[in-house]
Amino acid sequence: MSAHLAQPGVLGQIHGYGRSLNFRLAPGADAKHGLGRFADGFDLGWGAVGLGEPLVRGVGGEIPGLRTFPAFSGPGAVVPSTQQSIWVFLRAPDRTALFDRSEAVKQLLGEAFPLNDAIDTFTYGEGRDLTGFIDGTESPVGDHGVAVALIPSGEGRVGSSFVAVQRWVHDLKHFNGHSQAEKDAMLGRRQDTNEEIEDAPISAHVKRATQEDYEPAAFMVRRSMPWSNGVEQGLEFIAYGASLDAFERVLRRMAGLDDGTVDALFRFSRPISGSYFWCPPAKGNRLDLSALNL
Ligand code: HEM
Repeated sequence: MSAHLAQPGVLGQIHGYGRSLNFRLAPGADAKHGLGRFADGFDLGWGAVGLGEPLVRGVGGEIPGLRTFPAFSGPGAVVPSTQQSIWVFLRAPDRTALFDRSEAVKQLLGEAFPLNDAIDTFTYGEGRDLTGFIDGTESPVGDHGVAVALIPSGEGRVGSSFVAVQRWVHDLKHFNGHSQAEKDAMLGRRQDTNEEIEDAPISAHVKRATQEDYEPAAFMVRRSMPWSNGVEQGLEFIAYGASLDAFERVLRRMAGLDDGTVDALFRFSRPISGSYFWCPPAKGNRLDLSALNL
């Protein structure tokens, strides 16, 4: 079992507050030196870290299975790619700790890695999306979660993981203009009981995304969190996997690329970002970057 080698932020449950930060690699910067400095100082108790393809190439490394997030379109559904170099997903019990950890991370990443964007996330109710629907019910847990999320073999890669991060913006005014039955039909579950609706339309989100309906099954460990900046709001979608394929196959079906049916989510929400990262394994409370010869 490789769970003890995983970053604690990968499989850990989500509580309280989060902040999702994306960093670029500055042109001409010494990526190896900058990443080594960050890895020496970053405490994995603060949250999870992912490295994108531009950075892995920047340090002359290669992680099999890591690629850049693909941009594509389905009928009326636009999926953008905004691939970045480093993703840091901080967690904290309160805003004070979150602020302090963000400042520490920015300082550690220094001029080599300018901050591209950041969004504050939070737990809504008892783990609901801002639409009011419980999110994460069918996300694999226990040994199944470990098998789905963590890479089982490879020098310096055991216990590491891939992650897909995609920011969705919800039009809640539009969504809340629907009747309860229409909302339930868009998601494919009943909001009040969380019960799955067997005869939901094929466009219902859970009909598009049923993991066992894929060949092979498309399981992923979801750790999404709602976000709101007071003006806009949505879901910071976060899914871990031993490969990026499950996520990508589900997203393509959601966008209508399998059968022309677009997921009903696109009627009230749209993705505005998309990045893939490799989350290195942990060595104690530090990142193990031996797969990159660091
Ligand atoms: C606006 C963005 C999204 C919202 C609000 C959302 C919400 C939900 C909700 C409420 C459920 C049902 C409960 C559960 O099992 O968690 C669900 C299930 C699921 N979602 Fe999403 N989701 C979003 C985007 C995505 C994306 C981008 C993917 C992957 C490409 C995805 C994959 C899944 C999967 C695999 C399930 C479980 C399906 C099953 O096996 O029953 N979701 N989502």
